[in-house]
Amino acid sequence: MTATPRILITGANGQIGTVLAAALRCAHGPEAVLGTDIVAPPSSVLASRFTLLDVLDAPRLRTLIAQHQIDTVYHLSAVLSARGEADPRRTWEVNVTGLLNVLEAAREGLKVFFPSTIAVFGPNVPPEDTPDDAVLNPSTVYGMSKASGENWCAYYHERWGVDVRSLRYPGVIGYQSQPGGGTTDYAVEIFHQALATGSYQCFLSADQRLPMIYMDDAIRATLEIMAAPAARIGRRTSYNLQGLSFCPADIAVAIQAEMQRRGMAVPEFSYRPDFRQAIAASWPHSLDDSAARRDWGWQPRFGLRELVADMFDHLGTTIPCSV
Ligand SMILES: NC(=O)c1ccc[n+]([C@@H]2O[C@H](COP(=O)([O-])OP(=O)(O)OC[C@H]3O[C@@H](n4cnc5c(N)ncnc54)[C@H](O)[C@@H]3O)[C@@H](O)[C@H]2O)c1
Repeated sequence: MTATPRILITGANGQIGTVLAAALRCAHGPEAVLGTDIVAPPSSVLASRFTLLDVLDAPRLRTLIAQHQIDTVYHLSAVLSARGEADPRRTWEVNVTGLLNVLEAAREGLKVFFPSTIAVFGPNVPPEDTPDDAVLNPSTVYGMSKASGENWCAYYHERWGVDVRSLRYPGVIGYQSQPGGGTTDYAVEIFHQALATGSYQCFLSADQRLPMIYMDDAIRATLEIMAAPAARIGRRTSYNLQGLSFCPADIAVAIQAEMQRRGMAVPEFSYRPDFRQAIAASWPHSLDDSAARRDWGWQPRFGLRELVADMFDHLGTTIPCSV
């Protein structure tokens, strides 16, 4: 029997952290998971184990790791692509120095999860089935910080044997939480606005195809890569992770069809691209994730129809225990 891990999550109040924390608490028990973030969580989550932590505060990070006998860190805190452009220096600091603080602490023997992103790619890669090892020439400070972070992960693994594992998440879509300033946020907002107001104006072009993933698949991938035997992790920079690919017009049609099927008023969608369109245009349309499939058995479960139906089944409900 394997021992229960002692987990610390940074950025635990974010779109993914909220759901990952719940999944880890379900898997290992509430006492096994310490959520941390720079801001306090909503009152519904406050009952769980939580403490404030700025990832730039390395001494406090080390104190918490020692106090709570942490052996695994899910390092989610970051400033994301669209928000990051407002303050590039701060974005670099939080995303790179924050990661280095975690990796330094991990030299004592911690296991680490580091989420990377499709934003590490720039416009000069093959846009379809972009390979893991395509040249990284990102167009945002967020992408630059994550590309650098991937290399730091490989370096700490190579040099000090840190067991750090990483996925390049595409845009993550879920009903459980609100996105935090990324370029793919439209794909969550569109559901909430369709239900609340019957219309949505998208900030990307109707035909801007991007890789996306349903939250359930993203969380399952995270748990699966962390549970895989170390010998199966052939990439210590980061793995491409593909869920599905679609453009705003595709999801708009799928939402209209699903709402009609449910006897609801059919919403109207329009498109008014802003600065985020240029960021999206620099990213791949789809990723080649064959290494993740080969090394640790990755398989996505949600296509567009299943995703849209599941969103409508669950919007307005609380986070379930299993994903
Ligand atoms: N959501 C996506 O579509 C997506 C896609 C690719 C990669 N990712 C990565 O996954 C991770 C989680 O993303 P998310 O969507 O949950 O982001 P989010 O913006 O919703 O959450 C990030 C959290 O980090 C916290 N944070 C910011 N600065 C901090 C600091 N100095 N110290 C401690 N906490 C701090 C924020 O308060 C926030 O709760 C990030 O590393 C992100 O780069 C997300």
